[in-house]
Amino acid sequence: MQQNVLVTGANGQLGKSLQALAPQYSEDFRFIFTDVEELDITQPDAIREMMRREKVQCIINAAAYTAVDKAESDVEKAYLLNETAVAHLAQAAQEAGAMLVHVSTDYVFDGQSKTPYTPDMMPNPLSVYGKSKWAGEQAIMRSGCKAVIVRTEWLYSPYGNNFVKTMLRLASTKESIGVVNDQVGCPTLAADLANLLICILQQSDNLKDVSVYHFANSGKCSWYDFACEIMQLAEKEMGKRCQVNPISTAEYPTAATRPNFSLFDLSKTAQDFHIDIPDWRDSLRAVFSQICHNFLNDIR
Ligand SMILES: NC(=O)c1ccc[n+]([C@@H]2O[C@H](COP(=O)([O-])OP(=O)(O)OC[C@H]3O[C@@H](n4cnc5c(N)ncnc54)[C@H](OP(=O)(O)O)[C@@H]3O)[C@@H](O)[C@H]2O)c1
Repeated sequence: MQQNVLVTGANGQLGKSLQALAPQYSEDFRFIFTDVEELDITQPDAIREMMRREKVQCIINAAAYTAVDKAESDVEKAYLLNETAVAHLAQAAQEAGAMLVHVSTDYVFDGQSKTPYTPDMMPNPLSVYGKSKWAGEQAIMRSGCKAVIVRTEWLYSPYGNNFVKTMLRLASTKESIGVVNDQVGCPTLAADLANLLICILQQSDNLKDVSVYHFANSGKCSWYDFACEIMQLAEKEMGKRCQVNPISTAEYPTAATRPNFSLFDLSKTAQDFHIDIPDWRDSLRAVFSQICHNFLNDIR
């Protein structure tokens, strides 16, 4: 029997990565992919109607307000999407007896930990974006729906805008750039996160109440290390050469304060879902040609 799975925000990086994976799982899951045009998650009646019409058994919420710096001056909209709308989804899931799989962020933490963050460590967000995402998590916990919250970090994919595409753009216009070397975490390929979300759907019978998991690729790097790896691959793939110089966060001021340590402890995720989490360099190499291809199409 197929499970009916509603995906919100399906045109974003994670949503498109799920769309790419979905055909492999068509025997088990009927995915209903929606973005704001088909389902605006700020509209509770529209959510209920969609749940009823499509007999939704699980919601994957890939919709969010993700413009981290803009959120500092667009507070109301950030909270509307990241807290209020998430509360609507949780309420609708609770009423329908459906499970909610929700994606959150490393920016719920303040980066002060000396050890990788485990899912049970206390959030202390530094930015409006981080605070609004933490408020969304709390709304789910209050709702009483069955839910899985997956926190991820440094997401990239062949789709939309992300750090890898920004580096490719800079590589084609500049001879050298400075990239922050004192913020440490790990890049996450959206397709690897999408794979985990499918595992969560497959093992949903083993989950109860609200579970929190952390997911990133394995390994550790700074934005500078990530940029160096991207530039090396870009030189091979596109013949573009760009020198990367390490700089400090203080030399690259942004509207939102970011945690300088975002490393996740992935052991609970790997154990509970019996998965090997790919190293960030392997995932980047695996998808790099496709990202370059899409980047060249984007700028054409
Ligand atoms: N990107 C990262 O580095 C990162 C890091 C950590 C955690 N995360 C989390 O990972 C999740 C997925 O991120 P992502 O990078 O895939 O996000 P994304 O690319 O920004 O996609 C979000 C999608 O939600 C859509 N959306 C906006 N308002 C909506 C509404 N009212 N109703 C329905 N859909 C709406 C957006 O449409 P428009 O584009 O038209 O607004 C977009 O297609 C988010 O929860 C994010 O907070 C991301």
